Amino acid sequence: MTVQRVPYHIAIVMDGNGRWANKRFLPRIAGHKVGVDALKRCAKACDARGVRVLTVFAFSSENWKRPSDEVSGLMDLFAIALAREVPQLNADGVQLRFIGERQGLSTRVLKGIQQAEAVTALNTRLVLNVCFNYGGRWDIVQAAAKLAAQGILPTEQHLSQAMALAHVPDPDLVIRTGGELRISNFLLWQSAYSEFVFVDTLWPDFDDAALAAAIASYAGRERRFGKTSDQLQLVNTPTRVG
Ligand code: IPE
Ligand code: IPE
Ligand code: MG
Repeated sequence: MTVQRVPYHIAIVMDGNGRWANKRFLPRIAGHKVGVDALKRCAKACDARGVRVLTVFAFSSENWKRPSDEVSGLMDLFAIALAREVPQLNADGVQLRFIGERQGLSTRVLKGIQQAEAVTALNTRLVLNVCFNYGGRWDIVQAAAKLAAQGILPTEQHLSQAMALAHVPDPDLVIRTGGELRISNFLLWQSAYSEFVFVDTLWPDFDDAALAAAIASYAGRERRFGKTSDQLQLVNTPTRVG
């Protein structure tokens, strides 16, 4: 076996809320609301399966281009969900982190983020990174700017350490729900050697069985990181002593 059966870090593009709602003749925001429940369920399922880090894409740098009622609905939902869900997440040992540009967010949202991070800072069961007002390009640029301000000529290591997800290892598995076969500016730097699973399931329908299927697909792959298969077999063959 060349990979750990359970990924340490799973990242998810939670896509398909709008279509889930459309199919039911509901407003798009109804899909986003059920999407919050799907995220709670997914965090529990990840923890139960031994995943230690879950990173989710909740609002992209580009999502500001949506109709203003959807954007304000998403901001309200985010603030409400934070206030409502943090006590239970805290009790479950989840450490919440918010990844993304904070400038441009309302005071209400910022307060919610700061409180959630402060309350859950010492939890160690599962790290839940919520990418909000996040873009992979934003992250690379902010990391480069940080280094430039310190007069550091960036190396890969410097950049990795300056990126917004420096507190966790790169994702082993990236899942995108909703059927689109694209990355949409998610984790451009960190997914260099991630395994990808794309599923048609709309995010509100993503359940433990769907998670198990994605993990099973991951577990059957050989992660070569540029090496040959033979090299990996050699490393994994136990050597006899004496
Ligand atoms: C993903 O679902 C959630 C956000 C981008 C906030 P979408 O809202 O993109 O759902 P679809 O892709 O329109 O179905
Ligand atoms: C990606 O989904 C962003 C989130 C899930 C938050 P989008 O629905 O915004 O992606 P595109 O626009 O279809 O590429
Ligand atoms: Mg979408």
